[in-house]
Amino acid sequence: MAGDPTETDTPVSFLKEVRASGNGMLIRISLIAAIGGLLFGYDTGVISGALLYIKGDLHAGTFQQQAIVSVLLLGAMVGALASGYLADRISRRWTKVISGAVYVIGALGCAFSVNAEMLIGFRFLLGLSVGTASFVSPLYISEVAPPRVRGGLVSFNQLAITSGILIAYIVDFLFRDAPGNWRWMLGIAALPGAALAVGMLTVPHTPRWLMLTGSQDRARGVLERLRSGDDDADIEGEITEIDEANSKESESRAADLLRPRLRPLLWIGLALAVFQQLVGVNTVIYYAPTILAQTGLTNSSSIAQTVFVGITNVVFTIVAVLLLDRVGRRRLLLGGVAALTVALAVLGVYFWSSAIQDHAPYVALVGLLVYIAGFAVGLGPVFWLMISEIYPMGVRSKAMSVATIANWGANFIVAGTFLSLTSVITRQGTFFLYTALAVVAFAVFAYRVPETRGRSLEQIQAEVLGEDDRPRAA
Ligand code: BGC
Repeated sequence: MAGDPTETDTPVSFLKEVRASGNGMLIRISLIAAIGGLLFGYDTGVISGALLYIKGDLHAGTFQQQAIVSVLLLGAMVGALASGYLADRISRRWTKVISGAVYVIGALGCAFSVNAEMLIGFRFLLGLSVGTASFVSPLYISEVAPPRVRGGLVSFNQLAITSGILIAYIVDFLFRDAPGNWRWMLGIAALPGAALAVGMLTVPHTPRWLMLTGSQDRARGVLERLRSGDDDADIEGEITEIDEANSKESESRAADLLRPRLRPLLWIGLALAVFQQLVGVNTVIYYAPTILAQTGLTNSSSIAQTVFVGITNVVFTIVAVLLLDRVGRRRLLLGGVAALTVALAVLGVYFWSSAIQDHAPYVALVGLLVYIAGFAVGLGPVFWLMISEIYPMGVRSKAMSVATIANWGANFIVAGTFLSLTSVITRQGTFFLYTALAVVAFAVFAYRVPETRGRSLEQIQAEVLGEDDRPRAA
């Protein structure tokens, strides 16, 4: 019964299913692993507010300010690259312990920086940790979760990202008048960093990684603990499935991603990664107050309205957690992208028409809220979820790391070009450009992205590759 995804037919049933499919352990370890997402989101949200004070305090010029913001994205790309190997070599678990520890050093280093150069250096270090955590968190959770609740559990990570962004907005607001405000804003993140490092010491390795290293008995032991209390669990079935998939794929190397059999999967991951950023989500996250201020609001009202954007992002991510295993990934992805495309067009029309700006200024806020809701319910969680599901075991961590690098790279380009774009092709032109990119994204996703709801990672692997095909000759 519980193996049938159609049984998960009400939103509440995600919670029931999670309870039925294991014990408290599954939720506890998924939440600990998702702290990685919290660090990711906190950094994304905190810097715009902190920068207002840093620039005066550390006498940072325009170039240094841009470097303080964007060097984290570069660090994240390097972190994602290195941890594709680390996650296989030293385990998903130890990679995350290290990522938490590096984050603590990075956050404290930022808080105690005495000049802009030092801050830039420690922001790079933070980036290494954030880039690592950004994909090893969903990877870890996908490898411990039973199929019927995997979508919701893996998306705890996206929920943590959006909560981190919202917490950062609130921390920026609370510390705005405190002495040494920006140091607190940046330093306080050492706490969740430490929670990640210490928390990961208390969780097991994933059964799939243990099997990859030949430790079948330990993998069985972990599965028994993870599935205890689940009457429908079939431990031996899971072990056999992982074993068969591993024996086909264990020799795979990163280069196999370029071979004809795996290349379509590489493209799907890259398309999700790049379009997730090309629809402009981080211009909304980083520049929401600027966009709202351009509508004639005062600075403090635009900051207050930005908090609504943060709350909407969290609320609709919760909707996604509850629905991903019920209605499936594809429907949420396509529905969400359709909604955000319409919202982008509305924002374009808003900036184009002075009549709307004069008579209906609230249209900008409504457009931003619909946009972020559409993103949060689909493309936000589905990108991270899908890249943890579609790749065969032997290349999974490397393929995820490639998709993650592409995601941070596209983030870097979009964030770095938004303000120049608005001055060259106007605000409306920029939003119409994002609208056009979103239309292309919709078409690509509709045509290429498979449904993965309710299937085991091994079944997905067999389905997308064809049972007998291997990525390279045995
Ligand atoms: C994206 C981030 C974005 C966040 C917004 C994530 O899935 O990867 O770039 O800032 O969603 O909620």
